[in-house]
Amino acid sequence: MHAGECVALVGPSGRGKSTLLRCLYGSYGIDSGHAWLRPRAGVGEAAPPAVDLAQAHAHEVIELRRRALAHVSQFLRVVPRVPALDIVAERAWQAADGSLEREAAREQARAAAADLLQALNLPRPLWSLPPATFSGGEQQRVNIARALVVPSRLLLLDEPTASLDAGNRRTVIDLIRRVMAAGTSVVGIFHDEEVRDALATRQVQLGETADRTHA
Ligand SMILES: Nc1ncnc2c1ncn2[C@@H]1O[C@H](COP(=O)(O)OP(=O)(O)OP(=O)(O)O)[C@@H](O)[C@H]1O
Ligand SMILES: [Mg+2]
Repeated sequence: MHAGECVALVGPSGRGKSTLLRCLYGSYGIDSGHAWLRPRAGVGEAAPPAVDLAQAHAHEVIELRRRALAHVSQFLRVVPRVPALDIVAERAWQAADGSLEREAAREQARAAAADLLQALNLPRPLWSLPPATFSGGEQQRVNIARALVVPSRLLLLDEPTASLDAGNRRTVIDLIRRVMAAGTSVVGIFHDEEVRDALATRQVQLGETADRTHA
């Protein structure tokens, strides 16, 4: 797929949409076929080679997730005892390219995280609290902020607006459009037709599988 494209995966519940995203994220192995990802070059770096997500070693997957690949899961896995701002800033900090002093990089990461949480309308008193007690929609926005805080090559979205009200849904659509315009490709699952129509440049219908091992 091309830079800036958004492919929506369509199909009934249980058809394997989330599973396909987990394969692309490197969480599940792939028995056949290829999924090539060409990471972007960093400032002053040579273009990195394309990586086949179907064959990638664990350390390659970890490196891709640091700077090229992001996943907003259908269900948030809350990191215990870590404040919302740090959950978002940590990813930005881990992706920093080493051109800044450690403290300056940390500050820059926290500023980027704060900008995103603000854009996503997460109330400021929540920023210093761990998201375990947050509402579904608040947790979902932390999850989205963590995925967007680093400009990925490929963004995987599993029902990113499922718990959001209309206003927050529109904010998320705007933010995703912005990262697409900046060259990020998106593969997403959007049950909400309004969101799908607003974002998808192409739809892929998942077919019936012939060899299901359980029914
Ligand atoms: N790790 C796993 N081991 C065994 N079966 C799994 C695993 N993950 C998913 N499945 C099964 O694969 C099928 C597809 O699941 P998946 O979560 O991908 O569906 P989906 O299309 O995302 O559905 P929904 O729209 O309800 O989210 C389901 O029957 C599910 O139980
Ligand atoms: Mg699913």
